[in-house]
Amino acid sequence: MNNIKSNSVLIKGMNPLSGTVSAQGSKNATLPILSALPLLPEVELYNVPDLSDIHEMLSILKHLGATYTFDNGHLSMNLENLQNNDVSFEFTSKMRASSLFMGPLLSRFGKSTVGMPGGCVIGSRPLDIHLLGFEHLGATVDNNNGIITSALKDGKGLEGEFTLSFPSVGATQNLISASVFSPSTVTLHNVAIEPEVLEMVNFLNKAGADITLKDHNTLVIKGVPKLNKVTHSIQPDRIEVFTLLVAGIVSKGSVTVVNCEPEHLSSPLQALVQMGAKIELGDGSITASYVGKLEGIKVQTGVYPSFPTDCQQQISVAMLHAETPSVLIEKVFNSRFRHLDELQKMGAKIKIENNVAVIEHSDLSFATLDSFDLRGAASMILAGLSSTGITKVSSLHYLYRGYEGFVEKLNHLGADISYV
Ligand code: EPZ
Repeated sequence: MNNIKSNSVLIKGMNPLSGTVSAQGSKNATLPILSALPLLPEVELYNVPDLSDIHEMLSILKHLGATYTFDNGHLSMNLENLQNNDVSFEFTSKMRASSLFMGPLLSRFGKSTVGMPGGCVIGSRPLDIHLLGFEHLGATVDNNNGIITSALKDGKGLEGEFTLSFPSVGATQNLISASVFSPSTVTLHNVAIEPEVLEMVNFLNKAGADITLKDHNTLVIKGVPKLNKVTHSIQPDRIEVFTLLVAGIVSKGSVTVVNCEPEHLSSPLQALVQMGAKIELGDGSITASYVGKLEGIKVQTGVYPSFPTDCQQQISVAMLHAETPSVLIEKVFNSRFRHLDELQKMGAKIKIENNVAVIEHSDLSFATLDSFDLRGAASMILAGLSSTGITKVSSLHYLYRGYEGFVEKLNHLGADISYV
């Protein structure tokens, strides 16, 4: 469990990390599965990470009428007596993933009311693709002062075909949930195929849904009358794994992460190899080692299987330690470079123009850094590990949204990080 009392840490830099840690369950696989639970009567989930975002989703499910126990990664939940179909603004303003309840509640109750989530520091985060899909497939959607109400026409489930204008992860997940009880079939084109999306499909099919992936990025959802209780174990968190591996490299050490799925990280691991790090793959394990000077590279984020945007902030710290310049292009979100401004406090040599950053070799020295989102918070800690002196990182409530025991794992590997 995170030390939720402290919102800041002090990091004494330049300790080479070494040793082995285990991956947590995936936050971004858990959140969509939690949002889809109103489609089921009961569930047993294992390897659920203990994160503040998870607790937010559980409080929404409790508000809807679910009863559950959550202990040591095991969630046991009963959803037979839900009596609410609204997720009000107080919930959605805290966490965008709460908008994923729109589809499941529409399917279960024929109507859902969800507050519009706010934007966040990584950019405006509209729901236009979600809502256009609901309407195109037969629902009515009203957006009054940020409260979105969607309803089935005459109680009739969604059917037909819809092409997403962009393979949005959340829109794909919402549209899947909204379609599982279709009276016939829903076909979704240009869907997201991230591992977390495919795990949600696998989870729903285990519960009795009939969802097939065709032609690489088309989902055919044949409606079923109901779903059944299911037991499922959440996949490892590929983004946490990558963050821990980068810690090994920027600290000039060697870190092994076990209980992970290397095939979910082929593109970001390839980038680390291209930079000159040593990557060794075992059965469910990855070892990243610093074996000499790093070289700069060009990285452009994109949808799966391209380089994930959620690994962008972490690799930018590795780029600061490369002998030659790197180019970093963020193509998924319209402003995900806020962390680069913070790194300049440590002497980072970075030039930013719109969504392109040129990052040069920089000898980082300690500073007091703030964080503005969860991957940024983790990246500030990576910078502190690889700079001289003692760096302070604040606003760690962002870190606790997505990383379980992150500071403890790094200290286990030889870091010198203390809560303040
Ligand atoms: C999910 O967010 C992840 N969150 C994000 O991880 C991740 O960065 C993102 O997918 C991309 O991989 C969870 O899974 C809980 P999107 P999501 O819809 O679903 C635009 C983290 O650090 N868009 O694929 O919100 C949107 O503005 C978080 O763990 C529309 O324009 O991502 C963005 O620019 C951060 N209209 C792009 O698409 C829409 O209707 C990708 O968004 C929907 C999205």
